Amino acid sequence: MDLFSPIALGDLQLANRVVMAPLTRMRSGASGVPGDLVVEHYRQRAGVGLIITEGTYPNHQSQAFVGQPGIVTDEQVEGWRRVADAVHVEGGRIVLQVMHGGRVTHPEINGGRRVEAPSAIAINGVARTAEGKLAYPEPHALTAEELQRVTQDFVAASRRAIEAGLDGVELHGANGYLLHEFLSPASNVRDDGYGGSPEQRARFVAEVVEAVSAEIGAGRVGLRISPEHNIQDAFETDRADVLATYGYLLDRLRPLGLAYLSVLHVEPAGELVQELRRRFGGPLIVNSGFSTVTTRDEAVALIEAAHADAVAVGRPVIANPDLVERWKGEHPENEPKPHLFYASGAEGYTDYPFLEQAG
Ligand SMILES: Cc1cc2nc3c(=O)[nH]c(=O)nc-3n(C[C@H](O)[C@H](O)[C@H](O)COP(=O)(O)O)c2cc1C
Repeated sequence: MDLFSPIALGDLQLANRVVMAPLTRMRSGASGVPGDLVVEHYRQRAGVGLIITEGTYPNHQSQAFVGQPGIVTDEQVEGWRRVADAVHVEGGRIVLQVMHGGRVTHPEINGGRRVEAPSAIAINGVARTAEGKLAYPEPHALTAEELQRVTQDFVAASRRAIEAGLDGVELHGANGYLLHEFLSPASNVRDDGYGGSPEQRARFVAEVVEAVSAEIGAGRVGLRISPEHNIQDAFETDRADVLATYGYLLDRLRPLGLAYLSVLHVEPAGELVQELRRRFGGPLIVNSGFSTVTTRDEAVALIEAAHADAVAVGRPVIANPDLVERWKGEHPENEPKPHLFYASGAEGYTDYPFLEQAG
């Protein structure tokens, strides 16, 4: 298979297999409304097969970053409509990453609201707030009844994303945020039906995916996971437990026919990811994580060896709005500027040159 060939992920028709990974950039201000700059950023990158947006909060308490966009208010929905329209005019496809931050936030970030998680265990670390770096608070352990409300917030957010004209949603089950916190035995020590055994730890994630699929159609729903990423204290250090937890989850989700499963793991071609792919039985997007930046050679090799159906690419897409054209023609690339990843304004966001400007 060829990285530059088309593919269908459920209802999503991609022109190529280079997927823009979800990338938080914190440029949506205090209102969480994506504005002109954000519209321009995504419009510039519409040449990838699929854009997955930055993590976007489905309710106010789940906001994890200053300047993060939401999909809660009417103004936020209108902002996303402008983003989706701009990407579609350029012939691109775009899904919204719905991200509940779980315990990875602070009242100084989420508007003074309660911080919520599976269990009342604080992350050992500091949150970056407008008031500086502050220790993560001990979160409120959500009751089973409150979990139904959170599920409905995921459903309503996904419905709003479709109403805004996005092509689908990706549910963020990776990187130590709420859904991942349920899966990890380190962050989930519940003694009700949502904790304990691998099956019970996977239950909340399964219920959210099922509820969202019932609302907008499974062919427009993807799920991102990051087993063994061991980030933000959502530790998963026992391979047998990881296999049991994610294996159960994916066995349960298989009959739904989701658009895709996206896995962040250091060894996409390794045993664990390929076993999870078999259990899931649908299209697979992979990304080898933060330790090394994805390269053209890595992406080409993963697709040629059929280890995945598409590759999520992060930092090279930040630095190269026309990455697909560059990779296709084996042109040189702009270097990403990490100190501007989470800055504000156009610098390091919409001012990376296109090929013809590079001169
Ligand atoms: C600035 C930045 C922001 C990120 N934001 C998100 C996010 O909102 N959601 C998510 O699932 N992953 C996020 N990630 C992880 C990326 O999707 C990707 O897995 C990571 O960058 C490694 O891929 P790369 O080597 O191609 O950059 C982020 C990474 C970076 C560098």
